Amino acid sequence: MTIEESIKIGAKYIQEGELVAFPTETVYGLGANALNPEAVAKIYEAKERPSFNPLIVHIADLKDLAQLTTLAADEGVLKLAKAFWPGPLTLVLPKTDLVPDIVSAGLPTVGIRMPNNEIALELIKQAGCPIAAPSANKFTRISPTTAKHVEKQLSKEIAHIIDGGKTTVGIESSIIRITPKGFQLLRNGIIQKEEIAKVIPWDSSPIKKKVVAPGMIKSHYSPKKPMCLLKTVADLTMDRSTAALISFSGQYEEGFLKVIRVSDKDDLKDYAVNMFEAMHRFEDDPEIELIVAEAVAEKGVGLAIMDRLKKAVHDWGG
Ligand code: TXA
Ligand code: MG
Repeated sequence: MTIEESIKIGAKYIQEGELVAFPTETVYGLGANALNPEAVAKIYEAKERPSFNPLIVHIADLKDLAQLTTLAADEGVLKLAKAFWPGPLTLVLPKTDLVPDIVSAGLPTVGIRMPNNEIALELIKQAGCPIAAPSANKFTRISPTTAKHVEKQLSKEIAHIIDGGKTTVGIESSIIRITPKGFQLLRNGIIQKEEIAKVIPWDSSPIKKKVVAPGMIKSHYSPKKPMCLLKTVADLTMDRSTAALISFSGQYEEGFLKVIRVSDKDDLKDYAVNMFEAMHRFEDDPEIELIVAEAVAEKGVGLAIMDRLKKAVHDWGG
């Protein structure tokens, strides 16, 4: 099947209220017609995701904003859209009545983004509706960066998977909330606070815990096998003969049964691109009993990487 045929089939299923997995630049999404509450309910069911966790709505055209948010003509919103869309930035905005409560998990706001991936944009255009899509993995499990990763966790539940190859960013979008004073950062991603602050002001007031923010769920992105973080040489106390290392600097690789070096040029963006794939690979490898991931400094892209890694190791005691 050609990619054009695959998109066409996917669009038809979306129109019929079925679930379609598709690539974005960040991770694969599990999509449904965002304006059809029955279709969206299937996402929660397939993911086994609690209903208090809202979804991101994907659009292909700025014109689609008006039906989703009351701030569609807001100057700050338009500036952000111009600067970062299509791209890995999600805006949490006040929703219109057209957005079903099941999409926003009962919140008065909705998360919206325009993905920077031709397949995703074409799918949305052909379906003729905005597409609600979380990452296409079971709740709390490793995010998918290839179609195979999606199949591994969700093949039964999905009408169609569009295979667009490996995603180019590798971790989920940055999420911000628009406030009267500017923006608050709800989830770290490749687009950083400092870049966004060049477009609209950063609102430094504390984020109310009442708001469902991604950080509230401590365990996330987890492999089925024990996983831990490696911060210094002193942490190398594990049995490395059955352990695998997700290596960034290259300095800890000796003694591990298997190693994936995520970057050959010390670029943290490569860590983001390859991190989930490395976790999937070692999770599936019967020789590996423990996954070890090298920690990095929590600044710049490192903030987003460490956010994912800390949640991935949470259930395994760190
Ligand atoms: O890159 C991405 O954002 C990917 C691709 C598929 O677009 N999607 C993604 O979706 O990561 P998901 O469901 O795995 O994460 C979305 C996060 C949730 O943790 C949710 O808490 C937050 O977005 N979110 C969505 N709507 C929100 C809202 N109205 N207020 C606060 N947080 C919201
Ligand atoms: Mg997710």
